Amino acid sequence: MSGLESLSQPLSEPLTLRCGAVIKNRLGKSAMSEALGTLDNRPTELLVNLYDAWARGGTGLVITGNIMVDRLALGEPGNVAIEDARDLPLLSRWAQAGSQDATQLWVQLNHPGKQSPNMVTKQPVAPSAIPLAARFERYFNPPRELSPGEIEAIIERFATAAAVVKQAGFSGVQIHGAHGYLVSQFLSPHHNQRRDQWGGSLENRARFVMEIYRAIRQQVGNDYPVSIKLNSADFQRGGFTEDESMAVVEMLDGAGMDLIEISGGTYEVPEMTGKNVKASTQAREAYFMEYAEKIRARVSTALMVTGGFRSAQGMADAIASGATDMVGLARPLAVEPDFSARLLSGATRSIDIKPRITGIKPIDDMAMMETVWYARQLERIAQGKPTKPNESPVLVFLRQLLRSGVKGFRTQRMRAN
Ligand SMILES: Cc1cc2nc3c(=O)[nH]c(=O)nc-3n(C[C@H](O)[C@H](O)[C@H](O)COP(=O)(O)O)c2cc1C
Repeated sequence: MSGLESLSQPLSEPLTLRCGAVIKNRLGKSAMSEALGTLDNRPTELLVNLYDAWARGGTGLVITGNIMVDRLALGEPGNVAIEDARDLPLLSRWAQAGSQDATQLWVQLNHPGKQSPNMVTKQPVAPSAIPLAARFERYFNPPRELSPGEIEAIIERFATAAAVVKQAGFSGVQIHGAHGYLVSQFLSPHHNQRRDQWGGSLENRARFVMEIYRAIRQQVGNDYPVSIKLNSADFQRGGFTEDESMAVVEMLDGAGMDLIEISGGTYEVPEMTGKNVKASTQAREAYFMEYAEKIRARVSTALMVTGGFRSAQGMADAIASGATDMVGLARPLAVEPDFSARLLSGATRSIDIKPRITGIKPIDDMAMMETVWYARQLERIAQGKPTKPNESPVLVFLRQLLRSGVKGFRTQRMRAN
């Protein structure tokens, strides 16, 4: 076997999930919020174009950016929300474009809880009325505590959205259980200080996600892929720990989850972007491989590790080690939508992903720049333009600030009307 074949061979192997679905290779596109929806949070042709490009780019599993289950609870202006079947025609076109070439196309469903900026939500909700850290108070209003009835209603929203996703022809669904959004808030003993059946013990804090999983499964049946993205830890004092995360993975595995994607961090501690990773971790590329090695021994569900993968060698080593079944890629596929095809054919061996910083400390400290810069590249792909790997972060930031300011303002005005 040539060096090139031995590198791409483990990555080209198909993977059969518990539900019977087959992913054609071991490369997964992790969710990246596109913010390409309309002002009233409906899908657009831009999303059809973007996913057409990704489906033709050779990635076996493509997961959409987070889609909201409630249009009054957004992560950012321009999110798509699915509350009912009103957008089925365009969702179906999106599903069709993105599942060409036997690509598995899954929708990530999310509720942001308190991580909903004040430009779109005046009164966010959360398990408990605990605000984000003080440095966020300019952008995020303090949340109010959800009532038990509201918790049940949000679980139902996840299930309804999953049913619409399946009806539209997407090949699977993923619960966003990571990065400090509502599911992640319920799991965290810092953010969830409830005294009812939804808080306290780990079993109680995990009830919300387990109920969402069950409600979705009931809607989509046993032969449809259901996945979750989960934090290996929140990396926050008093937060969701690695031990707790592993216990929750065991619960989800036992309940029948088809694939668990491992990430980590929150807005408050953004470990998912690799901002604070140790040099030894960076040398292994992937940020959460040590966790995967430990959990692999404890569960039989398929695993995908996301964060930091940049080279064919690093990815092949990760799969060959057996610690993960899939490697998740986000930023590389925003710069090169066909990176997977080029990697598998040997046309390229790696990609250089440098930090996108403006040099303006308060902006860079918020770790928001990364998201804004890459989202701009997604918009370019959607418009049929080439990406601009050297586009100036300062200019992108200013442009986006103006646009989301206007979009956020208009979103609120439309609601007021
Ligand atoms: C523009 C952008 C948007 C993102 N949006 C989401 C999202 O909607 N849901 C999610 O789970 N992760 C989101 N992420 C995190 C990525 O899925 C991924 O976990 C992270 O970027 C690390 O992977 P990478 O090193 O390959 O980029 C986003 C990342 C970027 C850059």
